[in-house]
Amino acid sequence: MKRFILATFPIKNKTVFLRVDYNVPIKDGIVLDNHKIINSLPTINFLLSNNCKIILATHLGKPRGNVVPELKVNPLAKELSILIKKKVVKLDDCIGEEIKEKIETSKAKIFMLENLRFYKDEEQNSPAFAHSLADLANVYVNDAFAVCHRQHASVEAITHFLPSIPGLSLEKEIFFLKKAIVPKKPAVWIMGGAKLNKIDLIKQALKKADNILIGGALCFAFMKAKGIKVGMSKVDSNSVIIAKKVLRKWSADKIVLPIDFIVTEKLSPSAKPIIVRYNKIRPQQTALDIGPQTIALFKNKLAKTKTIIWNGPLGYFEWAKFAQGTKEIGRFLGKLKAIKIAGGGETAEAMHKFHLAHNFTHLSTGGGAALTFLAKQKMPGIDALENNYKKFKV
Ligand code: 3PG
Repeated sequence: MKRFILATFPIKNKTVFLRVDYNVPIKDGIVLDNHKIINSLPTINFLLSNNCKIILATHLGKPRGNVVPELKVNPLAKELSILIKKKVVKLDDCIGEEIKEKIETSKAKIFMLENLRFYKDEEQNSPAFAHSLADLANVYVNDAFAVCHRQHASVEAITHFLPSIPGLSLEKEIFFLKKAIVPKKPAVWIMGGAKLNKIDLIKQALKKADNILIGGALCFAFMKAKGIKVGMSKVDSNSVIIAKKVLRKWSADKIVLPIDFIVTEKLSPSAKPIIVRYNKIRPQQTALDIGPQTIALFKNKLAKTKTIIWNGPLGYFEWAKFAQGTKEIGRFLGKLKAIKIAGGGETAEAMHKFHLAHNFTHLSTGGGAALTFLAKQKMPGIDALENNYKKFKV
């Protein structure tokens, strides 16, 4: 499907509504992880070099239509201004004549609207709200891959009113994540993480991959489904039901489960780690990481692969004693020539934490969005850009 692209669109001197996803952790007014902001810089610089006025818009957290003081976007404007070494004018609202006039009369080039989700209309995909947003600019650029799975006003409805183009970061996301959908073979998916809602993704992986290596909390659903005891390890009963169905498929022999674990009897970062075989987890034990034999097994499965898709850490990487599996596999990927893509917010977080991001061909900025894309479910933000092309192309 066709979309407008920034490189060929007549963007010079335009006022651009730039939807970004700066939904990042903030504590006491300080941005704790600025990777999403850094990812938007190429698009911002491209627009500046074309003498555009840029109106940045993002959501932050889940204020659900209320003005929540701690979710104001001031720290984001400040962080962007530091990164880009330019003035960023933070506005106190998202819509209205006053805001419009400020933008039109100011000599500044970069503006940031207040948190879009302070208006409930944003999540309701309200055409009226989207129209008011669109009224501020002549062109819409979406560089917010991480929110493209949401049918929200600043993602979908706004594209009905302005010519709409993906930003450079969004183009990059689509380019690389498509490599997971049409992979060079052999392909391996690594799946883990704490969230147990990934069965759709596994079904997709069963179609695309030659092997699926499962760690994190996700593997316990499969172990339980096979009747293996998992002690106190995190497991979701609904996922067990689905895991049973998945295991009945002919392609289930592609699934590789851990053969040993690091368990503990106390839930604390200083707890004593104990190595046990997969079928020897005691009732009082919680498995928090894959064990050394599993790491070796996973490395072996990865060694000759051409495409690797990784979604979800393999253990509780927040605690150093249980981070080994995630860290070692992340390090090992650096030695491989394959296309290596990490999707899902937590995987990217872990790789940045262990300074392993450079081992990847692409680290997606999307959490839920990456999962939705990889599971081949609807992406309203991307569909909207394609429909917009049909409507606005001359
Ligand atoms: C994310 O952080 O994954 C995106 O910003 C989407 O946020 P949401 O789940 O609140 O829509």
